Amino acid sequence: MKSPTVHELRTTFLQFFEERGHRRIPSSSLVPHGDPTLLFTTAGMVQFKPYFMGLEAPPARRMTSVQKCFRTTDIESVGDESHLTFFEMLGNFSIGEYFKPEAVEWAWAFLTGLLEIPPERLWATVYIDDEETFALWRARGLPPERILRYTAEQGNFWGPPGDSGPCGPCSELHYDFGPRPGCDPCARGACHPDVGCGRFLEIWNLVFMSLYQDADGARAPLPARNVDTGAGLERVAWVLQGARSVYETDELRGVLARVEQVSGRRYDPDGAPEVARAQRAIVDHARAIALLVADGVLPGNEGRGYVLRRVLRRAVYCGHTIGLREPFLERVIDAAIDAAVRWYAAVGEQRAFILRTAAQEESRFQSTLARGLELLEQVIEHEATGHGVRRITGREMFALYDTHGLPPELTREVAAARGYGVDDAGFEAEMAAQRARSSGEAATGSADGERERRHAALGAESEFVGYEATEARSTVIALLDASSERASRLAAGTEGALVLAATAFYPEGGGQVGDRGEIVTPSGRFRVDDTQRHGEAIVHLGAVVEGAIALGEAAESRVDPERRALTASNHTATHLLHAALRQLLGSHVRQAGSYVGPDRLRFDYTHPQAPTAEELRAIHRLVNARIRDDIARETLELPYEQAIERGAIAFFEDRYAPQVRMVEYCGSRGHGHEHSASHPAQHAGACFSRELCGGTHLHSTGQAGSLQIVSDSSIGAGLRRIEAVTGPAAEHYVEERLEIVGDLARRFKVPVEQLPARVAALEEQLAQERARLAASERRASADLATELWSRGAEEIAGVQLVVAHVAVASVEALRSLADRIRQNLGSAVVVLGAEIDGRPQLLVAATDDVVKRGVRADELVRIAAKEIGGSGGGRPQLAQAGGRDASRLDAALDAARAAARERLAGA
Ligand code: SER
Repeated sequence: MKSPTVHELRTTFLQFFEERGHRRIPSSSLVPHGDPTLLFTTAGMVQFKPYFMGLEAPPARRMTSVQKCFRTTDIESVGDESHLTFFEMLGNFSIGEYFKPEAVEWAWAFLTGLLEIPPERLWATVYIDDEETFALWRARGLPPERILRYTAEQGNFWGPPGDSGPCGPCSELHYDFGPRPGCDPCARGACHPDVGCGRFLEIWNLVFMSLYQDADGARAPLPARNVDTGAGLERVAWVLQGARSVYETDELRGVLARVEQVSGRRYDPDGAPEVARAQRAIVDHARAIALLVADGVLPGNEGRGYVLRRVLRRAVYCGHTIGLREPFLERVIDAAIDAAVRWYAAVGEQRAFILRTAAQEESRFQSTLARGLELLEQVIEHEATGHGVRRITGREMFALYDTHGLPPELTREVAAARGYGVDDAGFEAEMAAQRARSSGEAATGSADGERERRHAALGAESEFVGYEATEARSTVIALLDASSERASRLAAGTEGALVLAATAFYPEGGGQVGDRGEIVTPSGRFRVDDTQRHGEAIVHLGAVVEGAIALGEAAESRVDPERRALTASNHTATHLLHAALRQLLGSHVRQAGSYVGPDRLRFDYTHPQAPTAEELRAIHRLVNARIRDDIARETLELPYEQAIERGAIAFFEDRYAPQVRMVEYCGSRGHGHEHSASHPAQHAGACFSRELCGGTHLHSTGQAGSLQIVSDSSIGAGLRRIEAVTGPAAEHYVEERLEIVGDLARRFKVPVEQLPARVAALEEQLAQERARLAASERRASADLATELWSRGAEEIAGVQLVVAHVAVASVEALRSLADRIRQNLGSAVVVLGAEIDGRPQLLVAATDDVVKRGVRADELVRIAAKEIGGSGGGRPQLAQAGGRDASRLDAALDAARAAARERLAGA
């Protein structure tokens, strides 16, 4: 095949493996589904992990995919010819079926047969002691000098992705570009792919996935021997298209052209290396941003959001190095979306949202970047002229990060380019200190994780039979005691977990809470407090409340029907709300998380700004109109691909399953069951709500009664949360509010409609009263001041001393009184005492000339405060104190007077 496009390569690859019995599996999201060990999908195998580990049954034992991947492990290399943060991986997978011979044979056949890569261009590596794979490559015709034995350190042991998971020895295929000027390891007698000077390019990795590695690094065999292969799509395209790098392959070339435009510089791989490198990095980062945001990642300060923010900032920095001072990313991302939509159509639907999200983030960073870089330069210069330690301190790194948003990785990169190191440990210490300041971090819930793993490892499988029923008969197939150890019997009063072959209990999932209720056997009764899915098992968590439960017994599951019905009401309403948001705010809106319980629902969604009051009202009305329409539910089981074709909304965390459940509320009016007969025509046409969903729902929307939006708030950049109630809870919500309004109307003695006018009038009246009161206080204070200085002043050495016990209502009044007296008395010391809210307060003021003579208000107030059992302080000109014992106020004033007299006389 001569020079195929990237697009042709994808389909050719998938077809090649379909012809060999593989099922084509769509790419999963860049955000791994329910996998706390991983931030991102870093390889094709990620979505298949539970199958490799034997925790779940795979949809097929041979599978093939083109997987979106994102890695930042080698981000410093991105911008060279071969590295990308976002890339696509072509893969074929065997779950306990074929092994090394087939994997080697097909990889070879695909590359040299179908793609016609000359065999003499290929080199293979095998794990150090893997004689079998060595022989297999030999049998394909590779000469022994082009099959190298590599250690784990040289890259021939792969995985686990994250801290723990499947792993195994691997065998890689490398392409030989032939000698390059200044780069021919073979000429130096070191002819092998691992020399890293650009002569060789790794294009395919075959992993013989047969081990599981736990978080402590201990390895144990997996239940079966598996195959996981991954070929870099862009790299294979590079080889076949005779390009100079991954960046010049057909899809990325368009993005590179856009970078040329915005930077006003032609891309010249032979020109200034820093310029070409920055241009290439911008291409990669722009595409990564587009695909990450499309999968629901938003810029933030931690986790995935922070990684995205870092990539975006690195892109802006790269732009800065080639002279870009104005926002440019939006235009490049636009081109990246153009390139992506051919295969990832959903990215196009999100275009406006992606662009706005990126533009907001970019402009925020642009405004601080220049200053941050300037400071970094100063630090570098300072270091250079100072003690000569070529290192940026942790504190400096932290300051650059904290106030100028310079990610530490970027500081490190920029510093390294100037020959400087950084103090990572010092930076971490600063970060830890900041975290401690801003309250504790969230707990990780690892105990739950461990329990889940143990339950999943039971290997028990249960069927959920509760979509239309809340009761079912089955048998107890597993029992676990409180410490998650297998048990054959659970006695009365013990907590534990119970697994049935089939159950009516819905396990928590898709935002919907797990069911509660009871399980009854001939010998006992088990109260179910929560239901969870762990692997293939549906686990009922609770306690035996009567008799005992034994393994193998017949059992009847009885779900609390009322709780189930209320939950279904909120779940259905969530779908209606989602549909209404998309209809009224735009199709960029997508679910970012939800909680569906019996009491309320919470729906998190992406939208760049707060909906206006009118928009919220329109959303509220639309949902309630559809509730009144009493639209009958249709539930279909169909292949994933078909559901997507029909426009079902799939959440970004959904994982592929061959058959999916599609819940829809289309146009037909119906009254529950009797009208819910199928309307085939509608399945393809417009439909108010159509989602892939495993949850339990109302038969028709009318059963929800009504929906009330309780709040809409921001929960992060571009992320919002609606809280709402339905059914009886919505009724209570409205009743409660009406009661409050009715009560107010009675108290204000006006009809409800006149409440706003009445409240406005009262507010106005209150403002007037306040103004009047303030004026009269000012007058009273002026009068009092006049009285005090005209009658109460005593002159000592040319200074007026006023000491008085006054009646004022606040410390502010006391202070303004002291100010007035001082203003009127040229040179004075004023000591005032008052009882305010039952507590004694003192205030001493001294004019500047008196202070210069050494008589200080703060000293006097401290002396006086002792008398009232208090303390105080302030400036030499003005000080105040509070105390406990108001009856001693006059004694305090006397003490101050005595001290003042003595000092003034001596001054
Ligand atoms: N998991 C392996 C890799 O990422 C092969 O797919 O290289």
